[in-house]
Amino acid sequence: MYTGTSLSGTSRFARSQELFARIARTIAGGESSYARLKKGLELCFDHGEGSHFWDVDGNEYIDYSLGYGPLLFGHRPQWLIEAVMEAVAHYGTLSTFPYELDAEVGELITELVPGVELLRFANSGTEATMAAARLARAYTGRTKIVQMEGGYHGWADTHFWSSHPDVWQPTIRPYSPTPIPGSRGIPAVYGDALLIAQYNDREGLERLFAEHGSDIAAVLVEPVQCNSGVILPEPGYLEFLREITKAYGALLIFDEVITGFRLAPGGAQERFGVIPDLATFAKALGGGFPIAAFGGSADVMALEATNQVMHGGTYTANVLALAAAKAVLTRIREQREAIWAILDGFGEQLRQGLQEACEAAGLRCIVQGIGPVWHIFFAKHDAPALDRIRNYRDAHAYASIDLFDRFHRAMLERGVYFHPYHLERWFLSAVHTADDVAQTLQAAAEAAADVAASLRRQPEGAGSVTTMSGIAQ
Ligand SMILES: Cc1ncc(COP(=O)(O)O)c(C=O)c1O
Repeated sequence: MYTGTSLSGTSRFARSQELFARIARTIAGGESSYARLKKGLELCFDHGEGSHFWDVDGNEYIDYSLGYGPLLFGHRPQWLIEAVMEAVAHYGTLSTFPYELDAEVGELITELVPGVELLRFANSGTEATMAAARLARAYTGRTKIVQMEGGYHGWADTHFWSSHPDVWQPTIRPYSPTPIPGSRGIPAVYGDALLIAQYNDREGLERLFAEHGSDIAAVLVEPVQCNSGVILPEPGYLEFLREITKAYGALLIFDEVITGFRLAPGGAQERFGVIPDLATFAKALGGGFPIAAFGGSADVMALEATNQVMHGGTYTANVLALAAAKAVLTRIREQREAIWAILDGFGEQLRQGLQEACEAAGLRCIVQGIGPVWHIFFAKHDAPALDRIRNYRDAHAYASIDLFDRFHRAMLERGVYFHPYHLERWFLSAVHTADDVAQTLQAAAEAAADVAASLRRQPEGAGSVTTMSGIAQ
């Protein structure tokens, strides 16, 4: 019997629940990042190895969450840990002076990423995006940044707007370019510096530029929108973004925090052949160590080089971060064919297999993605007949939270883990194996059959669903 996603009352997860209760006594909400856990589904981590991790009850999982994406080479890669240890043994942990690792990592990034001539390091994707937006505003002398509804560029007051409006509601308010704050406590004034567009909607963006073109400093976009499930650019869309920004004297900023060093060694800009003015990177760049970067054309970055635009941070370019990035990027450069054969090959196999497994069980769904990132959108009983999800509006109209939750739980019980939120995504690493793929698809066939059986007992939407914050709707 499907009983919702909660683990409570299940002896298999008893230690997780005990530890989580202890953590929550001192850590607000039991976690230090807002979307990390789904309430009721508080698995506590013990350790990871390669493509697998274990919870504190000893349950083993094939991991398709990968620390939210940074673990491109899986958990605990020995070569990466050794490289960092060696650098720490030599330098200590923090330099705060120019040092050789600056040059080495800078050279690797500019060699691998076609649009980056000059860059700066930061500590997180949130910081890198804030820095890139400030730079774009300084360079153009304009205020407004266009962001896409359903995109995510970190949790800063300046960007955490219209990420997932009305996500838990059955209907979504009509589209407007006026942004909607993503949290209480964000001053309304930051919204005045943003405009919201729909990903993949050319006419809408043309209208925005026609009306506000002289105020628009930049379009800030995930080249593949990976924060509303995974949504691919329609053919020609990225080229269109390149042209329209250029035509109006605005900058194009690719947020490559997810796509960077993942869709290709040079990220989405290499994979799609569209070069932005600026790009931001994090996640895969450190292979699990905290590092981010932003960079682009030497012309725009000149404002950083001459300190006309302020960007800083005590921990930027620290030894652990740069040593990790050097090791990750060196491996990417030396083993690119082998790495992307796995990421693209297994990625495609899993996408096809997951779609087939769900369809065989009679579940309507869309599995879409590219290379090592994808998502399964399960159709609501009254979902529109779509062959693909093109933007957040489609995702909202189509994706069933209830079915996603049921499938997630059925997979979890079979030792396959992916992010528990219905608009996140699956990540694949370069160390997932053919066995992982086979086991995942076997689990998916069983899980989909379970979900189909549960639907006969309790139709979709009949029960409540649980939001990230634990509020049943
Ligand atoms: C596209 C994108 N940009 C920015 C961020 C923020 O990065 P961080 O969590 O490192 O601050 C994220 C995080 O998931 C992201 O997916």
